[in-house]
Amino acid sequence: MQLTEIYAPIQKDLAIVEDRIKSTGSGEAPWLGDLLTHALKGGGKRLRPALVLLSASFYDYNLERLMPMARAVEIMHLATLVHDDTIDNSFVRWGRPTVNKIWGMEKAVLLGDYLFAKAGDLTASTENLRVIKLLPQTLMIITNGELAQSASAFQLGQSREQYIFRISSKTAALFVMAVESGAVLSNAPEKSIQILHDYGYYLGHAFQIIDDILDFTGTEEEMGKPVGGDLAQGTVTLPTLMLMEKYPQDNPVKKMFEGGDKQKYVRETIEMVRNSTIIAECFNVANEYCDKACRNLKSLPEKGPRASLTGLADYIVSRRR
Ligand code: IPE
Ligand code: IPE
Ligand code: MG
Ligand code: MG
Repeated sequence: MQLTEIYAPIQKDLAIVEDRIKSTGSGEAPWLGDLLTHALKGGGKRLRPALVLLSASFYDYNLERLMPMARAVEIMHLATLVHDDTIDNSFVRWGRPTVNKIWGMEKAVLLGDYLFAKAGDLTASTENLRVIKLLPQTLMIITNGELAQSASAFQLGQSREQYIFRISSKTAALFVMAVESGAVLSNAPEKSIQILHDYGYYLGHAFQIIDDILDFTGTEEEMGKPVGGDLAQGTVTLPTLMLMEKYPQDNPVKKMFEGGDKQKYVRETIEMVRNSTIIAECFNVANEYCDKACRNLKSLPEKGPRASLTGLADYIVSRRR
């Protein structure tokens, strides 16, 4: 399934959300407005607002009630990316120069702050306390995950549990915020909120595992962002972890982390990962998370877009960007 097909049930409303996202900050002074225009211009897949609308489609769907949250999750996502690119010293996203590349680190940090605050302001306008609380809680989880990643950089002896903790925190938490807020704001019963929560949680894991695979197998042209950077930054993702598990005594990651020639050993690692069964094994792990994500969807009302949710899980695994 392509994204257009997956989004079909909410396509019209998602286009309205898109317009509202893009017009955020219109009329602001240029020192803020220019940065906002650049960051909100688009090029991303808009997965998270789509998840808000899709999750809300099983019960009492009301676009006006959902709009602030659909905008908030995407703006929060963009805030994390503006900060992430600054931390990662990454200069390209959506095939365009990043905010930190054009305006420098200081402005990127401040723009990220502004976007987080904007997301909070939008969330508050739902006047739903459960949803309002989701935002700060999610942001704490994401930040904790990014800090865990930073603390584990260039560390040997990492476990899968540590990796799963990091991707659960830095990525799955925001997927959960999207689906849970959609479910709550459509007055879904508690059992269905839980099913959608689990869907977002496991889908988020699969999503980040694929992102980590694509860092080894993708191209900058397709991804619109640099590839091959995770290991160079000392970030141990699933492919790297599997390589270390297979050759615990002697592998290029170990040599690099122990102070060896970085460029040489990153190149060797990428080569070894690509020419082994590791990528296929990582896909298997991602598929297992997708299966878990979709496991209970059949208990949701038939009138809702269940096919879009299962289709999205398939899309996430087969995507190239
Ligand atoms: C990128 O997310 C950040 C990760 C969690 C890997 P997306 O792939 O959803 O970002 P967009 O589509 O470019 O906005
Ligand atoms: C996801 O991790 C980042 C956030 C959750 C903010 P990555 O660092 O892998 O994201 P990309 O690859 O830069 O998009
Ligand atoms: Mg990054
Ligand atoms: Mg990545």
